[in-house]
Amino acid sequence: MRKLLVAPSLLACDFTRLAEEVKAVERAGADWLHLDVMDGHFVPNISFGPVIVEAVHRVATRPLDVQLMIEHPEQFVEAFLAAGTDHLTVHVESAGLRDPDRLREFLQQLRRRKIRAGLSLRPTTPAQALRPYLQDLDQILVMTVEPGFGGQAFLPEMVEKIRQCRAWFDGDLVVDGGINPRTATLVRAAGANVLVAGTAIFRQPHYEDAIAALRAAEPAPQ
Ligand code: DX5
Repeated sequence: MRKLLVAPSLLACDFTRLAEEVKAVERAGADWLHLDVMDGHFVPNISFGPVIVEAVHRVATRPLDVQLMIEHPEQFVEAFLAAGTDHLTVHVESAGLRDPDRLREFLQQLRRRKIRAGLSLRPTTPAQALRPYLQDLDQILVMTVEPGFGGQAFLPEMVEKIRQCRAWFDGDLVVDGGINPRTATLVRAAGANVLVAGTAIFRQPHYEDAIAALRAAEPAPQ
């Protein structure tokens, strides 16, 4: 089973103290920093763009794991790479990457540029949608809530999708949405190894305890 990693989602942080929040979660044990980019079209919310990624990059020491919940990632990839993105995850449902050959080339171009390539699935998209791209991926992101907002309830029907993805893919399997110590145990047992969490970390008084509680999600030895 791949090493368990915790990736705080900065969407839930206090943006009036962004630099301090980044340093605080890194001190608390964050493995990656997850950045949720939203365009108000692919999802019914707007979050932030390259300028925030670049600001985080200036103070971060951990990899920036950027998820583009946007319709046209191909139009903004250069800006996000220039901002300091280390891992770039796009949605298989993005309007601009619907053509399989175009999506495959997009992923391969990231890897040529030493950027980890990831694909994400909305809850309603079957795992099968990823199969043509598995050899072009460093990571898969299974959304365990409908993308767009933090603080939503975990969708338990996603556990089966996680299990299915793990059966086909031995890279990093990321889950995002409603992840807390209880749901972390469920997704870990299904094969996920990277836990993205916003509320379960940034709404807790002590980030170190919050991250430790997520790490404790290791299922009992079989
Ligand atoms: C939804 C966002 C959230 C966020 C984590 O589009 O991607 O899932 O990262 O939110 P929490 O951990 O608060 O559910």
